[in-house]
Amino acid sequence: MIWYPYAQMKTLDAPIKIKNAKGVHLYTEDGRDLIDSVSSWWSVIHGYNHPEINKAITDQLGNFSHIMLGGLTHEPVQRLSDKLASWLPGDLDYCFFSDSGSVAVEVALKMALQFNTNRGSSRDTILALEHAYHGDTFKAMEVGDDEDYHFAFGASNEKKRGVIHIPTEIAALEKAFDEFGDKLTCFIVEPLLQGAGGMRMYDVSFLKRARELCDKYDALLIFDEVATGFGRTGNRFVADLVLPDIIVLGKALTGGYIGHAVTVANKRVYEGFLSDDPTHAFMHGPTFMGNALACCAALKSIELFERENYMEKIKNIERIARREMQGFSDERISEIRIMGGCVCIEVKDDAVLDGFKRFSFERGVFCRTFLKYMYTMPPYIITETELVKILDTMKAWFER
Ligand SMILES: Cc1ncc(COP(=O)(O)O)c(C=O)c1O
Repeated sequence: MIWYPYAQMKTLDAPIKIKNAKGVHLYTEDGRDLIDSVSSWWSVIHGYNHPEINKAITDQLGNFSHIMLGGLTHEPVQRLSDKLASWLPGDLDYCFFSDSGSVAVEVALKMALQFNTNRGSSRDTILALEHAYHGDTFKAMEVGDDEDYHFAFGASNEKKRGVIHIPTEIAALEKAFDEFGDKLTCFIVEPLLQGAGGMRMYDVSFLKRARELCDKYDALLIFDEVATGFGRTGNRFVADLVLPDIIVLGKALTGGYIGHAVTVANKRVYEGFLSDDPTHAFMHGPTFMGNALACCAALKSIELFERENYMEKIKNIERIARREMQGFSDERISEIRIMGGCVCIEVKDDAVLDGFKRFSFERGVFCRTFLKYMYTMPPYIITETELVKILDTMKAWFER
């Protein structure tokens, strides 16, 4: 029996069974063709069943699918870390792989905390954002601020001891640094776009000020770009605009083919672990870190991203979305937000979205709303006609 995610199994509607998938299309067992408007949780940026990524994986299969990185190494992981080091901005060069975004966030936080203990500092506080979502493992939950995901563990401050949450406002940021600056190990953010917390968008000026304050108070700046990385905000990485000390990538890293993630540190962080003292080593090592099939998928995914000029595709998605949503409004909608490859309609009351999943299904679109948010984050290869169909379906719900 499958135990499905984020679901009350007692009342769960039967999930839609998919037989195969190609491009942006999901084909159901009973012969329906659905456009996937959410890219399998924002990861499948090239669409499904991409011949070149398929080939990259099957070619590697003939060598081996996985070899651990404990005492061993291999060419795909070496090539991917070299590629990331040259592709990411600044000196974000030191790649620690893991099997999921949540684990990669744990790794980033653990790195930041140990970076400080290694240098004999007693700093113990983490700054994070209100409405943050960084994954479902425990430390990721602590820096998250979304009880809608983690309510079962209580809103008690006990579990968040050592974590301070602030809104995305410069005044609040300055106040937090003023009060806690010399206790801070790091500031972790989903830069520009807070995904699971409600597709909340904010200005780059907040991040620029955060960089200045982290420098001034000697705290590390961590960008969780698990959702925003690889173009989703209309920037290749938000790190291209403001340089963090650690960046976390996942989801689209492998083009959504295989669960894999990476925490990339800059030189200063990496060197904070170099020592003759064995206790200064970073003691972490997921079994499947650097999985060879995942690395080959990631290398091909990045190659396609560059070769096929994906940044243009994303700009085009944003342009079409702005055109299609221009002038659209409804009294049940509180805000429409668009950034890069993300369009979100926030409604005033969750109940407004009841029944939308069925409605979109009948129109040939797979949508997954959550709470008060109806959104699309389509694969970047989507055509204008397909994208307009998704947006028309979203609008049609309010025009019935
Ligand atoms: C910003 C962010 N960080 C971390 C995660 C967790 O990634 P994973 O689901 O691969 O554990 C997510 C997942 O949605 C995310 O959006």
